[in-house]
Amino acid sequence: MLPSHTFLLPLFASAASAANLWAAHYSRTINYLTFNGSSLTLSSSTATGNLLPSWITYDSIGKALYIPDEVFYGATGGSIVSFAIGTNGRLTATGNGSTPLGAVATALYGGADGKSFIANAHYQSSQVTTFKLPLDGGQPLQTLKYTGKSVNPYRQEAPHPHHVIVDPTGDFMIVPDLGADLIRIHKIEKTSGKLTECGAAKPVPGTGPRHGVFWQPAGAASRVRRAAEATTLFVGNELSNTVSAWAVSYPSGGGCLSLSLKQTLSPYQGNTTAARGTKIGEVHIKDSFLYSTNRNDKKFAPNDSLTQYTISSDGTLSWTDTTSSYGTYPRTFDINKAGDYVAIGDQTTSNVAIVARDPTTGKLGSLVADLRIGSVGVPENEDGLSAVVWAE
Ligand SMILES: *[C@@H]1O[C@H](CO)[C@@H](O)[C@H](O)[C@H]1NC(C)=O
Ligand SMILES: *[C@@H]1O[C@H](CO)[C@@H](O)[C@H](O)[C@H]1NC(C)=O
Ligand SMILES: *[C@@H]1O[C@H](CO)[C@@H](O)[C@H](O)[C@H]1NC(C)=O
Ligand SMILES: *[C@@H]1O[C@H](CO)[C@@H](O)[C@H](O)[C@H]1NC(C)=O
Repeated sequence: MLPSHTFLLPLFASAASAANLWAAHYSRTINYLTFNGSSLTLSSSTATGNLLPSWITYDSIGKALYIPDEVFYGATGGSIVSFAIGTNGRLTATGNGSTPLGAVATALYGGADGKSFIANAHYQSSQVTTFKLPLDGGQPLQTLKYTGKSVNPYRQEAPHPHHVIVDPTGDFMIVPDLGADLIRIHKIEKTSGKLTECGAAKPVPGTGPRHGVFWQPAGAASRVRRAAEATTLFVGNELSNTVSAWAVSYPSGGGCLSLSLKQTLSPYQGNTTAARGTKIGEVHIKDSFLYSTNRNDKKFAPNDSLTQYTISSDGTLSWTDTTSSYGTYPRTFDINKAGDYVAIGDQTTSNVAIVARDPTTGKLGSLVADLRIGSVGVPENEDGLSAVVWAE
């Protein structure tokens, strides 16, 4: 078999067909990158206008970017900002909203199009806020303030919602709460955008759920079929350094979605425990492969690692491979649509590393391109690179 990149030569034969990416840096910039198949370059850099840009929600159809603010100090809070994307990645600020401290992730949801509202997870201030779109400079539409704590006195003294994830039906919003050891479940009222907490799954105390991603077998077409076909929520756990598979059940008659734990695995062969200091970051899926970033595990010292897991048809995982993140503290990563490249955002080394990916086996290959953006960070600080997404 030919190496997968052979098939890409026509695509990247001219600079005109290059691919682009967006990368946010905590030093208040959003950066437009160009990848020509062998080299990654900075095409433009724009001030975000907020204080600690932590995340990018990219609306490819609406040609818009939403960037929340992790600012965790001061009395005034932060702002979520939105941009319209023009030709050659030209950005125009289109709106903003006032947010409480510590927003670390956002998700579009609700309305007829599934993107009429946006939710923010606030790690620092133990809450989720929502806004109606477009952002009009105002206050949140809704604020859900959580209570609770768990067993780790340093990280679990209060709720710390870390992610907001819409389920495949668009009817539920899932919030992994690292501080309270809960996976909170909310019913979405699609017209008003109102969220109603309707239950929670309870990981083992000390798990620290951080990020999640839904998976369905190929070909799942309707909600009824999905329910019968092993819809699974995979969650990356930052404190236990494991990935868990939760079976998803949909109620008949409009009740709350429920989750039941079916499997937990470490990111390493033989379910070996992670090295002290490791903090699992993001999880993403492409086809029947799940990937986690294993921040600060130093498996490829000085670099950290990513793990590839294979998802079987019933939604269970098996470890497949662990490969280099080509930098330290891989906070963020994104797989392109063709599935032949992965962009890894290493926070502390502040670089975007592009590695080849075999679309059939899901295996991550060698480093193809690498670009430092802005200033490097300090381990464990909120600086360096915060987010990367393919602009496609
Ligand atoms: C990609 O860009 C690099 C650096 O500008 C250049 O050397 C290389 O020839 C380009 N490759 C293609 C396929 O355009
Ligand atoms: C929010 O929008 C207003 C009105 O356009 C603008 O004056 C302000 O600078 C914006 N703030 C941020 C943080 O983007
Ligand atoms: C893997 O190890 C974790 C603890 O790190 C444990 O909770 C889990 O049950 C183990 N999984 C398997 C399949 O043995
Ligand atoms: C770590 O990653 C960098 C790219 O950021 C690469 O140049 C270097 O060779 C890697 N080091 C090791 C030991 O793999």
